[in-house]
Amino acid sequence: SIDLSTLTRQTGLTALDYGFVNTASTRSAITYIDGEQGILRYRGFPIEELAENSTYLEVAWLLMYGELPTPDQLAEFDDKIRRHTLLHEDLKRFFSALPHTAHPMSVLSSAVAALSTYYEDSSDPHDPDHVELTTIRLLAKMPVIAAYAHKKSIGQAFLYPDNSLGFVENFLRLNFGNMAEPYSLDPTLVQALDRLLILHEDHEQNASTSTVRLVGSTGANLYSSISAGIQALSGPLHGGANEAVLQMLARIRDSGEGVGKFVERVKRKEDGVKLMGFGHRVYKNYDPRAKIVKESADAVLEGLGINDPLLDIAKELEQFALEDDYFQQRRLYPNVDFYTGVIYKAMGFPTRMFTVLFAIGRLPGWIAHWREMNLDPQTKIGRPQQLYTGSLERHYPAR
Ligand code: ACO
Repeated sequence: SIDLSTLTRQTGLTALDYGFVNTASTRSAITYIDGEQGILRYRGFPIEELAENSTYLEVAWLLMYGELPTPDQLAEFDDKIRRHTLLHEDLKRFFSALPHTAHPMSVLSSAVAALSTYYEDSSDPHDPDHVELTTIRLLAKMPVIAAYAHKKSIGQAFLYPDNSLGFVENFLRLNFGNMAEPYSLDPTLVQALDRLLILHEDHEQNASTSTVRLVGSTGANLYSSISAGIQALSGPLHGGANEAVLQMLARIRDSGEGVGKFVERVKRKEDGVKLMGFGHRVYKNYDPRAKIVKESADAVLEGLGINDPLLDIAKELEQFALEDDYFQQRRLYPNVDFYTGVIYKAMGFPTRMFTVLFAIGRLPGWIAHWREMNLDPQTKIGRPQQLYTGSLERHYPAR
């Protein structure tokens, strides 16, 4: 690789790279991906090992501080997060100003931006104590905000967090407590959600993380940067794909057109229709996260005694695509989003909450990158160039 910033300064050349396909925006020591071989490692640890053995909070620590925490460090971290889950009562009223039809991702992003108004006195990006406190507050409060966005969308009262519960249990209770149907804190279910969160925790310079870094590079505080990252994640080509996958599967089921015909329409690029949950900018082999999610989907549905025809359609679709020249030539495989929706649905989450779950998962990665960027002496305000294609000079007509 070459250092383009030095080269272009010396030669006066500008590199044009739509979608930043060949441009690195930073050095980073957080996450390693080998897209050809389907390898993903956080701080050197294979994703498979972390998903099998670790927890969301332990991985969050690893991403942010570079090492696995000692048991004491993890216990203290967990305790701090439990003690910061409460939202200011005024912030709870903020939700009532939004329509109940609002997309939970918009609610989440707005409420996280609003957090900065409550903690203006402790959100200096250059004060390490402020950064520590803001990190804890975000990790503690964002799941609560997410659950309130869910409750708001179904017209139900918000619950106060129960800090005697673990991170994932508390989140499930905030979402499903007070429902007509009893909810389950079955350890298999809790572990499955914890594992899904781990799989989403970081993915180096994806669109939302790059957004968080770009906003942060201006000196904006962490709340504002994360709020912008949530908006970037919401698009269907990024985190919003998990919601789009389930809508696609449901359309295939309801239309009765069959998987084969649908795949033909995708190949003809009819109305720009894509196979959502397929393809990745970096992975040109199988996405290693998708492998783990697929196994989880089978285990969770079996554990809950659910037989969802959408999972069968997803498997049929994957098989069809993997055997087809169009997908083989373009090296398109299922990505992390392909099977997650089926699991979230089985857990009881409405489709519009799926990307919110992704956002909770990705939060530690966003924070880790924002912190890494702020500690890097090479960091500059992000400011891409353009190649101007408009009129060179014109004059306003005399009237
Ligand atoms: N279905 C059908 N065709 C596809 C798909 C797909 N899902 N993805 C890519 N292609 C085709 C493109 O049409 C293009 O074909 P062409 O050469 O005939 O024009 C070729 O494959 C290359 O695709 P690009 O769009 O150039 O690939 P890029 O790296 O820019 O995009 C992306 C990657 C956005 C993920 C794309 O594969 C896509 O839109 N997938 C569906 C949405 C999705 O699942 N997003 C989640 C990504 S993972 C994440 O963000 C968490």
